[in-house]
Amino acid sequence: MRDLRISVTDRCNFRCVYCMPKTVFGRGYPFLPRQEILTYEEIVRLAGLFAAQGIAKVRLTGGEPLLRKDIERLIEQLATIPNLEITLTTNGSLLAARAKGLRTAGLDRITVSLDALDDVVFKRMNDADYPVTSVLSGIDAAAAAGFAPVKINMVVRRGINDQAILPMARHFRGSGHILRFIEYMDAGSTNAWQMSEVVPAAEVVQRINAEFPLETIDPNYQGEVAERWRYRDGSGEIGVIASVTQAFCSECTRIRLSTDGQLYTCLFATSGHDLRKLLRGGANDEEIVAAINRIWQARDDRYSELRRAGIPVTKKIEMSYIGG
Ligand code: GTP
Ligand code: 5AD
Ligand code: SF4
Repeated sequence: MRDLRISVTDRCNFRCVYCMPKTVFGRGYPFLPRQEILTYEEIVRLAGLFAAQGIAKVRLTGGEPLLRKDIERLIEQLATIPNLEITLTTNGSLLAARAKGLRTAGLDRITVSLDALDDVVFKRMNDADYPVTSVLSGIDAAAAAGFAPVKINMVVRRGINDQAILPMARHFRGSGHILRFIEYMDAGSTNAWQMSEVVPAAEVVQRINAEFPLETIDPNYQGEVAERWRYRDGSGEIGVIASVTQAFCSECTRIRLSTDGQLYTCLFATSGHDLRKLLRGGANDEEIVAAINRIWQARDDRYSELRRAGIPVTKKIEMSYIGG
């Protein structure tokens, strides 16, 4: 257990068709009522207990984490926990005005999702009305606030945005940011995923390498999901996340806390463990730590490996609850 991912809200101002499609998550979609959502005090208490168990990094996700009211206040409190790196993944649309405050609050690193540079393709991916420039300004503001390098996540779907691979590589090459290409995954149960839409990471590397020669670099840490590459001419680094074609379950060190306080040991889990009930039932720290360790030790998740072997799993938890 090294990496704790906390979904701070199930709401989002985008409707990425691979994550929260409007057809399912339309206006009538039942978002969690406020009393079911973990409070900042509850999150901070749990994060402190996880840190004492060896968690080195917390990643705040969602939904869109910047939609949670005063997220800076949560970051300030998390930043007081010793030896814990605080990171956040955002869609970037609200980042321009917030980057500086996030940095001041104590956020260490930031990852911005961006699936295309062209407004039409961008909208085809996220089904919302935000111009690409709003995200690019967010990335610039993040860099100016001291988050350098910024990581940029691009989910690639064949026939939808794969023509943007090279333009994205050209755009971010030499910028100091790290662009990462993510294989489109069958997360949740609503995105009607098909293998034919996955562009294998090896193909992404091949396409970029043909224009800008690449070489591999060693991982930053064991269990890093992105495979790192750098441009041979020294103009920066990219990453590929091959969670479909080269599953990395055997090295997985991630554990996930959902918006409503369920603990999930896999991104593709079908059920979680109710930590909120323990918290609100008055459990002491030792009892909570014992429960966390029991859950982690009993873990045998390897969904992405099973997918490759063709073993089906039904009704997976949605990514917006569990936090990508
Ligand atoms: P750093 O290495 O600390 O920069 O962060 P990260 O790469 O772990 O974080 P990020 O949220 O950017 O993860 C990148 C993407 O990898 C996610 O958005 C997911 O699409 C994918 N991913 C992350 N964790 C898992 C996992 O446990 N299983 C699978 N199958 N995919 C994952
Ligand atoms: N496949 C791959 N990546 C996904 N993300 C969300 N849904 C999927 C999916 N089905 C990514 C987002 C963001 C991160 C939080 O998860 O693009 O970068
Ligand atoms: Fe970890 Fe589950 Fe992803 Fe495998 S599928 S890498 S076990 S989260």
